[in-house]
Amino acid sequence: MPATVILGAQWGDEGKGKAIDQLAAKSTWAVRFQGGNNAGHTVVYGDTTLKLHQIPSGVSSLHCSMVLGDGMVIDPWVLEEELDRWHELSGERPEGKRLFISERASVILPFHRLYDSADKVVGTTGRGIGPAYRDRIERVGIRFADIANVVDDVEYLQNTSKRMNGQLESVGVDSRIEWEKLQNDLKWILERYSKSIKPTGLMVDFALRNGEDVLLEGAQGAMLDIDQGTYPYVTSSVTCRANATHGAGVHPGHVEQCFGITKAYTTRVGNGPFPSELSLEKGAGMHMAKIGNEFGTTTGRPRRTGWLDIVALKESNRLNGYTGLVLTKLDVLGGLDEIKICIGYEIEGKLLQMMPTTSIELAKCKPIYETHPGFEAMTESEWIVMANKSRVENTGFGALTKDMLNYIRRIEKLAGVPIVSIGVGPDREASIASINGPFDLPENKEMF
Ligand code: IMP
Repeated sequence: MPATVILGAQWGDEGKGKAIDQLAAKSTWAVRFQGGNNAGHTVVYGDTTLKLHQIPSGVSSLHCSMVLGDGMVIDPWVLEEELDRWHELSGERPEGKRLFISERASVILPFHRLYDSADKVVGTTGRGIGPAYRDRIERVGIRFADIANVVDDVEYLQNTSKRMNGQLESVGVDSRIEWEKLQNDLKWILERYSKSIKPTGLMVDFALRNGEDVLLEGAQGAMLDIDQGTYPYVTSSVTCRANATHGAGVHPGHVEQCFGITKAYTTRVGNGPFPSELSLEKGAGMHMAKIGNEFGTTTGRPRRTGWLDIVALKESNRLNGYTGLVLTKLDVLGGLDEIKICIGYEIEGKLLQMMPTTSIELAKCKPIYETHPGFEAMTESEWIVMANKSRVENTGFGALTKDMLNYIRRIEKLAGVPIVSIGVGPDREASIASINGPFDLPENKEMF
């Protein structure tokens, strides 16, 4: 029975948290399948803001079981902080009861964070993601299932810390890993999480065969995919649909729907080319950063801002075959005189409709824009009134003004994918769903 995939359609930070939260209310399982605590999902409920990095956004649907899947790299210390924060908010300790860590997921250790701190090129989040995946590819990393087998093996621990120290030295990091500390860390992880570490692929497979609804939630975005993104300015995992089932430990035939989340404009954090980028110091770019509060959830770094890039969105749809798009942060564009959409690139006199393969070429691409009339700024509560009106009267996008609706219809036409929900503010209620679409507001039963 059906699995639904939800993915970032741009360079991450598209506002996946809210959409996932809405779909998780209708699912019994929410599974993260790649990445680690480089991700940051924010879910806002009235006065409460929940920032998640590794815990699936389904956490607030209390009937929903959660999996940190096979394809992930997991920082056990950051996970503990997140679980404590959730406990403070809700009084719940889900670990081992409805939150499970895959035996096959890789452990992020202090070594990985230290090694990542030497990055000078990509502008990583510094959370040890790339080094943990590198260890997995080299087949020297430690998975959660392996801890019990290595924790008392002194020779293994000594050799491993020696390898780690050699690598730290090679990139000019002064700190060193002592094998006794490595052993203590592994003992702590085992003790802390032993009840939660499970063969989660089997559990998800069982749920699917039992007819349950499973949500596979992606992190980062298609343009940060290690194989298909703007390499080398990408993350270290496959962020696309193809990895959603694999990283969860089930087969792709289960997937029925795949939603791409895109902002009504574009943002990017870290380095790398961004053809429709604007200045953060003035005009529309500054407006997007300020009104959209464009700072990374994980690192607090200011995000770079730009107009919606249809070339990137089409590329992302080629890879993921979206059944629908969720367009977030339409409200942020309110108050701009005009809104542009990047519909192609020009490179050395040639017109491009698709992205070039190398970041060097992409950096040379100049955006080709079409311009649309802007619409007036509205307050947060005015947007919520509009969203609720659409809900109560069942008018779908009919609640939008003419100029807003024209912008939406144009994006659908250019991207070739229907938009199924529009985010108009951070609050859970601040979204306008298409009529009979899958994104109507969840009933509040069993929700935190
Ligand atoms: P890493 O994933 O920490 O290795 O960082 C690699 C690149 O991906 C950097 O440009 C990061 O800023 C970017 N990145 C990683 N995770 C996210 C995310 O969740 N949102 C946006 N960008 C991200």
